[in-house]
Amino acid sequence: MEKQIISLNKVEKRFGKFQALKDITFTVNKGEVLGFIGPNGSGKSTTIRILLGMLKKSGGEATIFGKDVWKEDTEIHKNISYVPGDVYLWPNLTGGEIIDLLLRLNGQQRTHRTEELIEKFQLDPKKKARTYSKGNRQKIALVAALSQEAELYIFDEPTSGLDPLNEKTFQEEVLKLKEAGKSILLSSHILSEVEKMCDRIAIIREGEIIETGDLVSMRHLTRMELTVETRNSLDDVEQLAGVHKVDFSDDTHQRAVLSVDREQMTQIMDFLAEKQIINLISTPPTLEDLFMRYYEKQGADSHEA
Ligand SMILES: Nc1ncnc2c1ncn2[C@@H]1O[C@H](COP(=O)(O)OP(=O)(O)OP(=O)(O)O)[C@@H](O)[C@H]1O
Ligand SMILES: [Mg+2]
Repeated sequence: MEKQIISLNKVEKRFGKFQALKDITFTVNKGEVLGFIGPNGSGKSTTIRILLGMLKKSGGEATIFGKDVWKEDTEIHKNISYVPGDVYLWPNLTGGEIIDLLLRLNGQQRTHRTEELIEKFQLDPKKKARTYSKGNRQKIALVAALSQEAELYIFDEPTSGLDPLNEKTFQEEVLKLKEAGKSILLSSHILSEVEKMCDRIAIIREGEIIETGDLVSMRHLTRMELTVETRNSLDDVEQLAGVHKVDFSDDTHQRAVLSVDREQMTQIMDFLAEKQIINLISTPPTLEDLFMRYYEKQGADSHEA
């Protein structure tokens, strides 16, 4: 059996009468990157705070390295590194001083790896924290977390606020950790932002995990959107198997936006090629699409039952 690094089983959290988490069940295995995906307010940060021993759960079981996240948090923390969703920095310290402080708080020191990361993220460590932009504050926390030696890395929405170049740097660093056999939990509300890095994803909605698995096995839930322009009319495209929604953008039907099943992609492409493609853009499914498809499917399943 694969070694479980994080294990959550039917975890619940109530804030007074409000039940923020109803049923959180998933695992992160050794050497795995798990994408923890859900919309704003669905419970990602609450789950992460429970894992970090900052909040006490109201029910269920949660362990890291086989240890109880609440009772054995000191032991666990020796081997984890994390970046919170909202990065708080000491306003009068410089970026460099804060990185040193964050490392020392975890019993670690600045290494050549720290310098390398400062360089890669193009961070100016001499500025006072209060003068940093949102993205730069995020980078300070990321540099500190990534330059730590740990078995498990937890990132709560790490790329919110980063520009595409820095986002790419972050993705490269995550892949390096993975190659080194580390385990990573990565939360996000944007599917396409994390799917490149993740082995598996767990989808949370309103405090419940509604689906876990790899993206390949979730393909049944994902349709691609194709924006296409052809020399010949696309009139009969609606008849094609795997084509679900057709919006023509002109009267001659040479431009359209299609929603298509991935399984039928080859046949659809053949059809489009015959119409002589002028332009083609394919857009990956968003989290919203995935949710919509998930509930469509659930509805269909319950009709069959
Ligand atoms: N301390 C608290 N007291 C009361 N309610 C809370 C508390 N912390 C979180 N909540 C509620 O729990 C729910 C989940 O919040 P959480 O911060 O975990 O969401 P999230 O998935 O991290 O969202 P985001 O993408 O916006 O960061 C929300 O409805 C939030 O208002
Ligand atoms: Mg959050």
